[in-house]
This record gives sequence, C-alpha cells and structure tokens, in this order.
Amino acid sequence: MSIPDGWDAGELARAARLAARVPAGAGRAGAAARIFAARAPGRVNLIGEHTDYSGLPVLPVAIDRSTIVVAAANTTAEIELANADPGWPSRRFAIERRIPPYETGDWANYVKAAIQGVIDRFSAPATLVDNLRGASMVVDGRVPLAAGLSSSAALTVSTAMAFMAVNGLELDPIETATMVARSEWYVGTRAGGMDQAASILGRRGHALFIEFDPIRVRAVRMPANAAIVVADSREIADKSGMVRAEYNRRVVECALAARILARALKLDGVTILGGVVRAAPGWNAAELVEKLAAAVPARLGADLKEAADILGVPQAVLEAELLGQGAARIALDANRPLEILKRARHVLSETERVIRAADVLEAGRLDEMGKLMNASHASLADDFECSTARLDTLVECARRGGAFGARLTGAGFGGSIVALCDVASADAVIESIDRGYYAKLARGAPESWRAVLHAGAGASVIDLPTA
Ligand code: GLA
Repeated sequence: MSIPDGWDAGELARAARLAARVPAGAGRAGAAARIFAARAPGRVNLIGEHTDYSGLPVLPVAIDRSTIVVAAANTTAEIELANADPGWPSRRFAIERRIPPYETGDWANYVKAAIQGVIDRFSAPATLVDNLRGASMVVDGRVPLAAGLSSSAALTVSTAMAFMAVNGLELDPIETATMVARSEWYVGTRAGGMDQAASILGRRGHALFIEFDPIRVRAVRMPANAAIVVADSREIADKSGMVRAEYNRRVVECALAARILARALKLDGVTILGGVVRAAPGWNAAELVEKLAAAVPARLGADLKEAADILGVPQAVLEAELLGQGAARIALDANRPLEILKRARHVLSETERVIRAADVLEAGRLDEMGKLMNASHASLADDFECSTARLDTLVECARRGGAFGARLTGAGFGGSIVALCDVASADAVIESIDRGYYAKLARGAPESWRAVLHAGAGASVIDLPTA
C-alpha cells in the first residue's frame, strides 16, 4: 500500500498491527465490511493561550506525534474498545442518545465524548441513533499524556473520524472541528476549540492562525530556519483534578469580565471577550482594560452576588448561565475571590500578541516572535496565574540556551513549555534545559521529555485493506 497523504510509514505500520485485532464485518457490504484507520495529531500552541474559549485567536501547530484509532463495524449497537497499551483497560458501552460517562478520570470518557459529539451532530432525525452501527475500535496513542500537548484531542478527533467512517458519515474539516470543539465539556472541562481544530486543520510545515465563531484558519508557513523545542516539566497537568477546577474558574472569570465590559460599553447580548473585541473594533487592549477597571473592582466574590448586582441580573440567573446546571455544574471554591481585571488584561493583551505573531512569523522575524512569546509567558504567569515555578525554570533554561523566546504551552499548571529557536541552536537549547532542569530530576532525560517537534499534517482517515 502506498503511503497516504498525511501519514508516515511508521503510522501505517502501527495501523496495520492494530487492524489485526479488529475483525472486519465478514459477509457484509459497503462501509460495514471495511476497516478504517484514523490518525489525529497532538498540537503545540506557539502563542494565544487561554484565548480560545473567549472566541479569540490562537496560533498552534499540529505536531508529528499522533493517536491512531482503527475501527470496523460490528453487529451490535455498542462500541467495543481496546487500547494497544495494556495499562488502559478494555471497555464496552452502548450507543444511545445520551451516553452516561464512566467515573471521572476513566480514559474511555474521551472516546465516549467523541461518540456523543457525532450523535449530537447527526441525530436531528432521532432515528439516526438507532441506525448507527456499533464498532470495534483499537486505540494507539503516541502523544505524551498530561503534558499539555493535547493527547485528549488526538483521541477524540481520531475516534470521531473513525466512527463517522464506519457509519458512512461525512463532514468537511471545519465542520468536523466545530463538531468536536466542545468534546472536553463531556469530561467536565469548559475548554475552547483550539486543540481539536489544530489536530484537524494541521498542515505540514505550517502554523495555524485559528479564529473562532465560526472556525476559520490561515496557514502560516514556518520559516525554514525555525525550530520548535518542546520540553515537558514532568509536572502532571491532568485535567481531571485541580487543573480542571482552576481552568473552569478562569473560564468563569473571563466570562464575567466580558459581561461587565459589554455593559460598560453598552453592547447588547455580548457574553465573551471575543464578542467585545468584535463589537468595539476601535478599542485596543489597554483601553478596554481601563474601561473595565472603571466599571468593576479588580476582584469579585465567588458567590457571584456582587457580579449580579453590577450586571443588574438575578444571582440565580447568572449562576445558571456561567456555571451550568446538573452534574456538569462548575463548583467554584467560595473562599477565593474571582480575578476579573488581571484575567481580562491577559486575554486582551494576548490577542494583540497573537495577531502580531502570525505576521512576524510569516515574515520570518523570529527575534520578534520570540519577544512576543516571552511577553505571553509573563502575562500567563502574572495575570493569568497558570504558570508554576518549574515551568518558569524551564522557560529560563530555554532562553539561556539561545532560544528567541519560550513560554508555557497549553493550559499550564504543569505540562510543557515551547521554545522557538534557530535550527542551528536547537541542540544548545536542549542542552541548556538538560543541564538546568532535567539534571535535577533524573540522570539523562529521555527523548520523549524534550525534543524538536515539527509542524505536521492534520487528521485523516483511510481504508485499510482487509485480508
Ligand atoms: C487547553 C484547552 C484549550 C485551551 C488551552 C489554553 O489546552 O483544551 O481549549 O483553552 O488549554 O490555551
């Protein structure tokens, strides 16, 4: 079999090995008889952090590390799920209108999230759920876990694409990205759509300037002399515990800032900072922050009472809108005030940096790009308060090793940093990280902890030959 676009020989071999564990639909016709393989990459975000859920742009690259899901129709209305890594137990669950999640932290919840997304997207005629084919699926994930490189998006995207293929359902890449954008909500994180969009829309040798509502993408060519170094702090950024609570808290803080700012500017119906930016095009970040500062104290109580008074809405209504309802409701630690001003200052200033970054990167001005990345990290550390001492150290090491710039990447609170450097100085950057950071953790850091990653192709699904 020749190597399909977007795949490499290693991935194809992985898919073939997984296929041996999936029985094709013997004696059946059409899609039901075939074996499909979907690959979806992780991503590293160059800049534009914690902007996506405010509907503001990001600049990630899809990376050359992927998750592969091989799938074939089975004769049940169930998903039968196995993982190439025996550490992840097999699972089996029914395809139904509302798929109940497993316990928090179960790996297969990401698979359920993806299947639920497909059901929600396609089941306007309610009968579709009953007609969906069940599938046997085997997963092989090679995106480092809990490292801020979107292993979860790689899993949800590859699952959704494999499941759609089994069922003969088709969407274009933007529609697919829109469908899976909210898949993390299923596991309780109110994440934006960057990770899934990057995984789907990735382009070899390019960064992606992605805008939201609706999703749009502009591919930005990576300059030939630019290298992307990613280093994992080994501080687990597991989204099922503390990180999720901190993340969701930031989402609420940004939403409050947006509503208060919209009210101060008399913008009707605006609920996210992206809405403010679009409705007030003449205002720059500093002016918007000033306007917000005049309208609200820097911090507000976590019970949302003060916020409701300022907005002139009943507290219960605001709570329902911002926190959601039922089991998925966000629980805010009531003993800490909500930071309104700092969070808005990060998001609005970061937006200006992302827009500039897309242009300077395209123009090959890596020095300027590095400065924007450094400013992004400072803003994330000081105003968004999602860096850690270990991430700060890693960033310092990368800069000392000669990177143009470095910053935490992904949600933060652990996970990885990304550094941009000249191809010729990538080794020196890695050495500096090894000496200044990993030497204190272990003797000799494995390649998987820090590496030069390349901007790779987005997700795709192929037919595998059946025996
Ligand atoms: C996580 C989320 C993304 C995004 C980043 C922060 O990766 O999944 O949607 O919000 O954090 O930029």
